[in-house]
Amino acid sequence: MNSSLQLSADGRLRHLLTVEGLSRGLITQILDEATLYTGGGRKLPLLHGKTVVNLFFEPSTRTRTTFELAAKRLSADVLNIQVAASSTTKGETLLDTLKTLEAMQVDMFVIRHEASGAAHFFAQHAAPGVAILNAGDGRHAHPTQALLDMYTIRQHKPDFTALTVAIVGDVMHSRVARSDIHALRILGAKEIRVVAPRTLIPSHIEAMGVTVFNELDAGLQGADVIILLRLQKERMVGAFLPSTGEFHRDFGLTRARLAKLSPDVLVMHPGPINRGVEIEGEVAYGERSVILEQVEHGIAVRMAVMGLILGSEELQHENRRQRAPMNHAPR
Ligand code: NCD
Repeated sequence: MNSSLQLSADGRLRHLLTVEGLSRGLITQILDEATLYTGGGRKLPLLHGKTVVNLFFEPSTRTRTTFELAAKRLSADVLNIQVAASSTTKGETLLDTLKTLEAMQVDMFVIRHEASGAAHFFAQHAAPGVAILNAGDGRHAHPTQALLDMYTIRQHKPDFTALTVAIVGDVMHSRVARSDIHALRILGAKEIRVVAPRTLIPSHIEAMGVTVFNELDAGLQGADVIILLRLQKERMVGAFLPSTGEFHRDFGLTRARLAKLSPDVLVMHPGPINRGVEIEGEVAYGERSVILEQVEHGIAVRMAVMGLILGSEELQHENRRQRAPMNHAPR
């Protein structure tokens, strides 16, 4: 998939389809910009008069609602469309949907679809000036999730070059894992590990610059950050695991396992969590967990992306000037 589609000739973000191909400078700019939006606060006029459509062909709770809140906090008009997912949805149907909605003068589409490449397809066919944000396409990419994950890590551990990050669980079916790996590489993480049973590790993943572990304790040894992934049964065709009970025994993050690790290790999960499968309930909301921070940061990061793509230069400048003193305000 062509990642240059998302950048204009002068390197600015036009769409956000994938983390792949973004520069460290651009990612850092998005994260810096997001610091302006943390902590809620009053509505900002950045997207006043713009229309954002959330077009979700797959279920979502936090991604859709945080995109909606982000757009509303920037004063956009927001429309939510939940389309019943059909595995046979094909290009022509998507194109018809896009053209129909475009006729309503939409400025930005936030799209989640079960097919890898759906957001690229929309970006290729969108009218000039219409922006596409990928909110998850199949197993391929989930760029805003990766950006909010990087934001959350950076709040606690600002030096990526010192970090060992373990991504644990259903890597095979996870667009979050792929986008996180790209982002961590671009930001210069010291070591990226993927930890899972053999059946849940995609072949050739080493080419992405990660080390593979098939045993949990070894994979967690010395980790600074643990990113857990949900077992994505809806994407599993056939048997990948003997049972979820066995998966929990061998790969679930429990209090006992956590106790053996560094006391300042961060526990992350994009949600929704499967309690008692990849994570023990008490670990999910325990003191090492930053899972709810991830949700909160999702709003700020999505505001930053939307503002950078759709906000006028003038309003963006004004916004930075007004909000800058709040930068890094203690929370
Ligand atoms: C993730 C997704 O949809 O890819 N969730 C999310 O966006 N918060 C991960 C998942 O569904 O397991």
